[in-house]
Amino acid sequence: MGDKITLSVIKADVGSIAGHHMPHPDQLAAATKILAEAKQKDIIVDFYVTHVGDDIQLIMTHRKGVDHPDIHGLAWEAFKSATKVAKELKLYAAGQDLLSEAFSGNVRGMGPGVAELEMEEREAEPVITFHADKTEPGAFNMPIYRIFADPFNTAGLVIDPKMHDGFMFEVYDVFEGRSVLMKTPEESYDVLALIGTPGRYIVRRVYRKSDNLLAAVVSVERLNLTAGRYVGKDDPVAIVRAQHGLPAVGEVLEPFSFPHLVAGWMRGSHHGPLMPVPMRYAKVTRFDGPPRVIALGWNISKGRLIGPVDLFDDVAFDETRRLAEMIAEYMRRHGPFMPHRLGPEEMEYTTLPSVLEKLKDRFVKTEEVKVVKKHSDLLSH
Ligand code: F6R
Ligand code: MG
Ligand code: MG
Repeated sequence: MGDKITLSVIKADVGSIAGHHMPHPDQLAAATKILAEAKQKDIIVDFYVTHVGDDIQLIMTHRKGVDHPDIHGLAWEAFKSATKVAKELKLYAAGQDLLSEAFSGNVRGMGPGVAELEMEEREAEPVITFHADKTEPGAFNMPIYRIFADPFNTAGLVIDPKMHDGFMFEVYDVFEGRSVLMKTPEESYDVLALIGTPGRYIVRRVYRKSDNLLAAVVSVERLNLTAGRYVGKDDPVAIVRAQHGLPAVGEVLEPFSFPHLVAGWMRGSHHGPLMPVPMRYAKVTRFDGPPRVIALGWNISKGRLIGPVDLFDDVAFDETRRLAEMIAEYMRRHGPFMPHRLGPEEMEYTTLPSVLEKLKDRFVKTEEVKVVKKHSDLLSH
């Protein structure tokens, strides 16, 4: 046991009421019971259980470091318990994200999404956790970039001497399972060249350049790549530390005032605006969306979680939500057409191979079409 505190945010969709909408309160209670017992036994210091859309969010603090089997095992147990409730109530998609029957020491690659950050607590340790539904980890690329590398978003990059050197980005390639560390502002254009493809390159960690302090972590699990078949979008989480030589809370929230287009929404197969919402609106309705994100504000005190404050519960984000609704309306009008519908390589469910198979004998070379289907031939039928 060291002095360092680890904040672990582990999430999974293990079933919900009336489609992929939101979990039942009894599922949250079941997960809470498991974590409360673990707190009693000093396995964790503190915890909070909530949800965004159909994903249960376990927010835990402990002294065991990242990727610890006790903590991942605990999360697994909590999700199993919530699954049991889901099965009992015949909720929808019970146990969806638990890809395996047995836990093997680490939840990575087993379905749940994970963001963990080990820290030496500063004198005051303000932290924001972000939790999104109906989208993918790359949805955080644009906001994280703007928080840590865009002076038009973050005044501190220009004004605060502690941040003036900039930040280092670890960019993870989900297809190849490899990462690259890049410096901003020097390599900003190269960072953008990668992370502008959010389905493949994901900002995984951000460090302050002056002292390598770990400032942000994003979950990078892509469930469908893990499972090799459609099992829902990856509904990411992120942890961002704030203030005192890091971006201020207001600078961390600022990029979310723009509801940028992300992949996900209905059937994990559509682009739509990411709408920042308070916890009470963290449920998805219209066309199973639009994709939503909540921001919970905390202070960590000797591992205790002080909070949360519901940061998007503010009229200052009303216009963003209104704009998101207008964008949602505009995108919906495209129906099954790209760019509302994702490109074939990104679609979660796809009937395209079977449609092509069915039509394979009916495809003819264009020249033949010209010969066979003359305008007059068509008219004569
Ligand atoms: C997207 C999502 C939902 C479902 C949709 C169909 O991540 O969870 O949009 O894809 O409700 O669900 P199934 O195929 O389970 O009927
Ligand atoms: Mg679901
Ligand atoms: Mg979900």
